[in-house]
Amino acid sequence: MNRTAFSRVLAELDTHAAHLAPEDLRSAFETDPGRFGRFSLRLDDLLLDWSKTSVDDRAMDLLARLAEAADVEARRDAMFAGDPINSTEGRAVLHVALRAPREAKFEVDGRNVVPDVHEVLDRMAAFAQAVRSGEARGATGKPIADVVNIGIGGSDLGPAMATLALAPYHDGPRAHFVSNVDGAHVHDVLKGLDPATTLVIVASKTFTTVETMTNAATARRWIEQALGGEAVGAHFAAVSTALDKVGEFGIAQERVFGFWDWVGGRYSLWSAIGLPIMLAVGPERFRDFLSGAHAMDEHFRSAPLLENIPVVLGLVGFWHRVVRRYPARAVIPYDQRLARLPAYLQQLDMESNGKSVTIGGENVRGPTGPLVWGEPGTNGQHAFFQLLHQGSDVIPVEFIAAALGHEPDLRHQHELLLANCLAQSEALMKGRSLDEAREQMLAKGTDAAKVDAIAPHRVFPGNRPSITILHRLLDPFALGRLIALYEHRVFVEAQLFGINAFDQWGVELGKELATALLPVVQGKKDAAASDASTAGLVEHLRGLAET
Ligand code: F6P
Repeated sequence: MNRTAFSRVLAELDTHAAHLAPEDLRSAFETDPGRFGRFSLRLDDLLLDWSKTSVDDRAMDLLARLAEAADVEARRDAMFAGDPINSTEGRAVLHVALRAPREAKFEVDGRNVVPDVHEVLDRMAAFAQAVRSGEARGATGKPIADVVNIGIGGSDLGPAMATLALAPYHDGPRAHFVSNVDGAHVHDVLKGLDPATTLVIVASKTFTTVETMTNAATARRWIEQALGGEAVGAHFAAVSTALDKVGEFGIAQERVFGFWDWVGGRYSLWSAIGLPIMLAVGPERFRDFLSGAHAMDEHFRSAPLLENIPVVLGLVGFWHRVVRRYPARAVIPYDQRLARLPAYLQQLDMESNGKSVTIGGENVRGPTGPLVWGEPGTNGQHAFFQLLHQGSDVIPVEFIAAALGHEPDLRHQHELLLANCLAQSEALMKGRSLDEAREQMLAKGTDAAKVDAIAPHRVFPGNRPSITILHRLLDPFALGRLIALYEHRVFVEAQLFGINAFDQWGVELGKELATALLPVVQGKKDAAASDASTAGLVEHLRGLAET
C-alpha cells in the first residue's frame, strides 16, 4: 500500500463526504434519472445495485483511487499467483484454485495444485455416489439415510449454509450438522437418528478442535454402543488437512478426504469440507456450485475496478465503515433458504476483517470490519427493522433476492416476498417527513390533537443506505457465485484497511483460557488463580450444580 497516496485520497474523500448532505440520497433520484444505471452493475443475471447509498460519481472516483493506492489489483493478482499473502502464517491463499477447471493452473511453491484439487473432488464424487446409490452401506447392510457433519466454524457454517440453501436440489441422504460443544447439540441431533443408517463426517482442518473432537468421540460411542466397535469404519468419514491425526482417530484411509493449508477454514466449503453438500445434492450440482464461484473469480480477476462487482461492493463497504463511520451492516436475504447466510458471513467477514493491526504490525488508524448480522426477510421486518428505520444509528442493509422461487405453484408468495424486499429499501431511502405523517393521518380523518401527539412517532428519517443484490434463481451456480462475491468483497475491504484477512489470532486467547479453566470447573483445581469475578462465578456454578 502507498500510505501517503492513500491518506491523501482518503482526506479528499472525507472532505467530499462532508459536502454530501444527508438529504442528497433522497433528492439524488429526483434530480438524476440515470442514477440507477450508473450505480448498478450486472454479471449475467446477477445485479448489484448501490444507487440507494450516498455515493456520487466523485465519491466513486475517489474510492477507485483509494483502491489503486491500496494496490488492490496487485494484491489480488498476488493471491491468484499463490504468493504467501497470509503473512503471519506464511501461507498462500488459494481457495480460488478449489473451483478452477481441470485445465487451469494455480501454483503453490512452484507446484500446480489443480490436479490435486480434482483428484480429491473425484474421490469425493465416487464416495458420494456410492453412498447415494446405496452401494456403500452401513455395517448392518442398510443404506445410509442420514449424514451428520461434525465440525465448527468454517468446517460447519459453509456446508450448513449451502446445504440449506440448496434444499430444492436434495436427492441424497438427509444432512444434519453438529457444531457446539454443548452436549445438547449432539444429543438432539443423534436422538432422532438410527445408527445403522447414519454416516458421520468428522470435519476439521486441524483435527484438534476441542468441540469437534469431543462431539466426534460422542458420536463414535453412539455407533459403538449400537453396532459394536467394528462398525465404526462403515459409519465414519473424515475431512482434514492433518491426515496423520485422522489416522489416529481410526478412520479408514479411503474415507479420508484431504485439503491443504492454503485453504483458510472460512474459505473451505469448496474443498472436501463441502462433502455434506455433495452428498445431499450430488457431484454434478456440487460442480455447478464450484462453477458459479469460478465465474465470479474470473470476473474479479479481470474487470476494471469500477466495473468489478466485488470491488465495488468492497468500496461501498469501506465508504460506509470508514467514511460514514457506520458500525454495522445487516445482510437480509429475502430467501428463507439463505437463513444461515448471515451466520456464515459473520465468520467470513468478522473473522477475516475484525483486526486492529496492519499487515506491517502497526495499529490501524481508522475503523476496520463492521459488525455483520442479519436474518431472512420478511421475518426480520417483524423483529428488528424498527431499529433500522427509526433507531439512532444508521445501519446499511444488504438485500438479497431471486426473481424466481422454486415453488411455481406458490408464485404469489414469491411476488409478495419481492414486493416486501423492494418496499423496505425504498422505505429506508425515502423515509416519511413530519408533514407527510400529519397529512396522512389527517386524510384518514384522525382528529388534530391526536395528529399532533402521534405524528412525530410516525416520522421516518429516511436517507438510510441499502444495497440490493438480485439474481434469477438460487440454484447451485448462483449460490457459488454469491458466496465468491462476498469472499472477494471481504478481500477488497481488507486491502483498504491494510490488514491480513487470512489469519485469526483473536480466537486463541479464549481457547487457552478455556483449557486452563476446565480443571477448575471440574473441581480438580482451585479457582484461586483466577480473577475474583471468574473465581466467584465458578464457585456459584459449583454451588448450583450441587443443589
Ligand atoms: O476457532 C476458529 C477456527 O480456527 C476457525 O478459523 C475455523 O474455521 C474453526 O476454528 C474450526 O477449525 P478446524 O476446522 O481446524 O476444526
